[in-house]
Amino acid sequence: MTTGKDDKALRRRLARRLIVVQEEQRLRWSRELHDDLGQILASIALELHIVRADSHEMDTRLARAAMLIDQLSARVHDAAWSLRPADLDRLGLRASVEDLASVLCGQLGIPCEMDLEALSSPLPAEIALTLYRIAQEALTNIGKHAAPSRVSVTAHVQDDRLRLAIEDDGSGFDGTAEPGPGHLGLAGMKERLALVGGKLSIETAGGKGTTLYADVPLTG
Ligand SMILES: Nc1ncnc2c1ncn2[C@@H]1O[C@H](COP(=O)(O)OP(=O)(O)OP(=O)(O)O)[C@@H](O)[C@H]1O
Ligand SMILES: [Mg+2]
Repeated sequence: MTTGKDDKALRRRLARRLIVVQEEQRLRWSRELHDDLGQILASIALELHIVRADSHEMDTRLARAAMLIDQLSARVHDAAWSLRPADLDRLGLRASVEDLASVLCGQLGIPCEMDLEALSSPLPAEIALTLYRIAQEALTNIGKHAAPSRVSVTAHVQDDRLRLAIEDDGSGFDGTAEPGPGHLGLAGMKERLALVGGKLSIETAGGKGTTLYADVPLTG
């Protein structure tokens, strides 16, 4: 017979395993989309751009097909990039998080305060990926739920821990209520942090905005 505690521990283990598997799968899909599909589309586009038929009508159709392939290539490229945080490899954690925040604040047309110097130092790859995914989900939540007039994203090191804080002055919510089954973001953030020995804390209340803290250990 299993107790409620056993069930909870089992659910947590499964949720963690799911996150690891999802991340591995995303990487695989991203490579396949980018390398296989991207390469095939690029060569079809090349053929279509070169080939010239002897009738005007055929030329027009080929030009249109070439344009559609170009659009499809751009979509595949974007999809491959959104599946894996390619920015993280290319730009590093600090610039990637700055980009995520600037894009969101640009879309909302609100000011964004950032102090992310602490993310400039090299971090273990899983910690960097975890913090990137936390920032991504927290900012997505702000865009979806908060309707804020300002956002702040900061990171500081204290003792042997790094704290990423993402704050908005929007609607806030009841942080004590368990999110329903269709809401996976907050639970996913908790599990991701637990995987690297970190912790998520949230300060929020209806009408009072939300501050989310992601704390990660910097040693062992
Ligand atoms: N910054 C925020 N401001 C206001 N409400 C928030 C904020 N972040 C989360 N919430 C509330 O907490 C709930 C749970 O968030 P969670 O990220 O788990 O799920 P979701 O965003 O609704 O769906 P999912 O992340 O699975 O796509 C949200 O539905 C929303 O009501
Ligand atoms: Mg969410």
